[in-house]
Amino acid sequence: MSDKTFTMIKPDGIANGHAGAILDKIIKAGFKITAMKYLQLTPERAGQFYSIHKERPFYNDLIKYMSSGPIIAAVLEKSNAVEDYRTLIGATDPTKAAPGTIRNLFAKSIDANAVHGSDSDANADIEANFFFSGFERF
Ligand code: RTP
Ligand code: MG
Repeated sequence: MSDKTFTMIKPDGIANGHAGAILDKIIKAGFKITAMKYLQLTPERAGQFYSIHKERPFYNDLIKYMSSGPIIAAVLEKSNAVEDYRTLIGATDPTKAAPGTIRNLFAKSIDANAVHGSDSDANADIEANFFFSGFERF
């Protein structure tokens, strides 16, 4: 069982003024924020981050979108973190996200879907290391 996951508040979550409410939901759900930063990805960095989706038809739009404005990146700790955080954020497509989930409450579309959440323990490690050095984690 994992105790760590990685999240981003995506450009729409920031631009629509939902960052505070999203962080509040994360904290109230029992996640501890062990690293956090506010930054804008270049298309190159976004492409590297989502390279797992390189062959997918939505890859180019995803890269363009994820580099279109500032994001918040964070590492979260809690027992069963990966699975519990995926439950908290809801389905990729906000029209299919369960009531009360972050994407149900704050996302507008499958592209502008408010947040990212790691899909496995291995990817949580890779993604956290992509953004944070040891000096930036608590
Ligand atoms: P994420 O990685 O951002 O947490 O999202 P996810 O696991 O729920 O979904 P994933 O399959 O990993 O896809 C990554 C992001 O690509 C966009 N997407 N668009 N148009 C489409 O069919 C489509 N499918 C995925 C979404 O923004 C998704 O979050
Ligand atoms: Mg994913």
